[in-house]
Amino acid sequence: MSAAPGARTAQTNGRLWGERARDWADIQEGTCRPVYLAAFERMGLLEGMAYLDAGCGAGMAMQIAAGRGARVSGVDAAANLLAIARERVPTGDIHQGELESLPFADHAFDRVTGFNSFQYAGSPAVALGEAKRVAKAGASVVVMTWGEPAGMQAAELVAALKPLLPSPPPGAPGPFALSSEPALRAFATAAGLEVLDVFDVASPWHYPDLPTALRGLRSSGVAARAIAQSGETAVDAAHANALAPFQQPDGSYRIAATFRCLHARA
Ligand SMILES: C[S@@+](CC[C@H](N)C(=O)[O-])C[C@H]1O[C@@H](n2cnc3c(N)ncnc32)[C@H](O)[C@@H]1O
Repeated sequence: MSAAPGARTAQTNGRLWGERARDWADIQEGTCRPVYLAAFERMGLLEGMAYLDAGCGAGMAMQIAAGRGARVSGVDAAANLLAIARERVPTGDIHQGELESLPFADHAFDRVTGFNSFQYAGSPAVALGEAKRVAKAGASVVVMTWGEPAGMQAAELVAALKPLLPSPPPGAPGPFALSSEPALRAFATAAGLEVLDVFDVASPWHYPDLPTALRGLRSSGVAARAIAQSGETAVDAAHANALAPFQQPDGSYRIAATFRCLHARA
């Protein structure tokens, strides 16, 4: 979210991302399921491992990990999303908190992920430094962010909201600030992580009809901010307009999206 650099964002982002938590969990979160699966494959998430998802949202990734026998922990700012995560992963150690100040001991985890989360911290560098602090030496860490926006269909939906958002504070990073491979590698290296590889995962978005698409797209914290600034009608209209080229003959929508993952060793 467009925070002033250095400002902590958990309180504001927790409210925004929690406003339509059920729609996020039911519609939007699953658009990244292929990315969670690819990340776990790359990291080798095994039974009994201590796993942390930093910025866990409604907990789909934790639920998959718990299903594989991992000992799961999560942290997020949004109480409403965490309520869903706790239903899904009753055995999880799940905290409401700030990415820049993780409520976990040093060197506690075998595997750490941040799926589209670190970039929302006021200082993504501090947040990733925290992820490294709580990872065991040699543990696998995955940072997921948007793929390169050029030519990506889903990036057109992101762009549609731009005119409806408040002007970002000077120096605020945009949603694609970490998407270039050099920027992502530099981000990880600065946090003291050893980069192993960077890989892209195609994760197309499907919606059965326009009302479902609009509910899903309205549920992000970014959309909540645009609604507060410009109203729900304007946000729906912008999304409907951006969705139109992606309507399929059966009335459903299919939008190509790619996410970029950096796999590193702590
Ligand atoms: C794009 S969502 C991703 C959620 C989840 N990882 C997923 O894939 O569905 C970003 C998440 O980051 C959380 N978040 C944003 N800023 C935060 C902060 N400063 N501290 C903790 N969580 C934060 C939001 O509450 C939200 O759940």
